Amino acid sequence: MGFLYRKFIRQLLFNLNPELVHDAVIKTARAAQRVELVNSVVRLLSRAKDFPLTVAGIKFRNPVGLAAGFDKNCEAARFMAGFGFGFLELGTVTLRPQPGNPKPRLFRLRDDHAIINRMGFNNAGAFDAARSLSRLLPLPVPVGISVGKNADCTMDEAPRNYLETLKIMYDYGDYFAVNISSPNTLQLRSLHGGEKLKRLVEPMLDFASGQKKVKPFFVKIAPDLEDGDLAGAAALAVEKGFGLIATNTTVNRSAVPAYWRSYEGGLSGKPLRELSNTILAKTAALVKGKVPLIGSGGISDGATALEKLSLGADLVQVYSGLVYEGPFLVKEILEYLGRHHWHSPRHH
Ligand SMILES: Cc1cc2nc3c(=O)[nH]c(=O)nc-3n(C[C@H](O)[C@H](O)[C@H](O)COP(=O)(O)O)c2cc1C
Repeated sequence: MGFLYRKFIRQLLFNLNPELVHDAVIKTARAAQRVELVNSVVRLLSRAKDFPLTVAGIKFRNPVGLAAGFDKNCEAARFMAGFGFGFLELGTVTLRPQPGNPKPRLFRLRDDHAIINRMGFNNAGAFDAARSLSRLLPLPVPVGISVGKNADCTMDEAPRNYLETLKIMYDYGDYFAVNISSPNTLQLRSLHGGEKLKRLVEPMLDFASGQKKVKPFFVKIAPDLEDGDLAGAAALAVEKGFGLIATNTTVNRSAVPAYWRSYEGGLSGKPLRELSNTILAKTAALVKGKVPLIGSGGISDGATALEKLSLGADLVQVYSGLVYEGPFLVKEILEYLGRHHWHSPRHH
């Protein structure tokens, strides 16, 4: 199936505007997931061995997840689950709806198997996302919800803005990803600093600990972090008991041709892999297995997924790889893990 995608479908889709294709995929998925026969056929074609594991108290059937940003409004999760993902991270959701940055804001770097995006958290807002997701629940796989901040909210107001979003989404997610690493919201990345991160995350953790079900948190970090900020985030993660997602997209352009330097936004896909892996390895060394890690950035096949699991990730996520290799990438990764006799150290 992956062969068919790479040989025919990709060619077709790549002739069209990237954001148009994405919107069409989401619309198609929304409609298709209402037809149980479609979900069954997708499931059948994607069937693979299970790799049961427990991370952050959540049971996963395999470690390969959908990364945030694909289903920003939590509306295509049932369809996506059919492709065999072990979990789905939906969002990033902000409190109020917002249009995001002016178009064009999504670019394919075809020769590099990469993407540059400066979407800017375009989404329908938390109430809409909660309504959409509530209609799709229960889902066959765990769901993470990525929360971010509105573009027009000041840095002082940020903790409250995140918290309000969390409150609206809380009942619908199995875990929450605090996104402080999108390069497309002004100053968002300044939240990595130890004190600022603490002020952001503490109210959310406090809220969760007062709920009937205490749900786990992950903070998603940037691949462009200075060692000091990374150490600060890792120390806080261990102190407070939240996991980390390494990493989001990069503003670094050294791994792609100079032509792309003038394109603002976050770079993802193959050229992100090395940088992202470096940060993942550093993070793993800092947290020493005390908190869970999710690896994201540049996974394009089984080998690059296994690489992250070997560097210390408990779970991994894909996005750009789906665009270049197609949705059966999940099955290909799981088959590769099977051939390499991978089993999670988190399966007891
Ligand atoms: C078009 C696009 C939109 C994205 N939107 C989000 C987002 O809303 N929130 C987020 O945390 N990450 C977002 N990401 C980052 C991905 O979740 C992922 O961390 C990153 O692309 C690296 O993985 P990859 O190389 O497999 O794509 C986005 C990525 C792309 C390509």
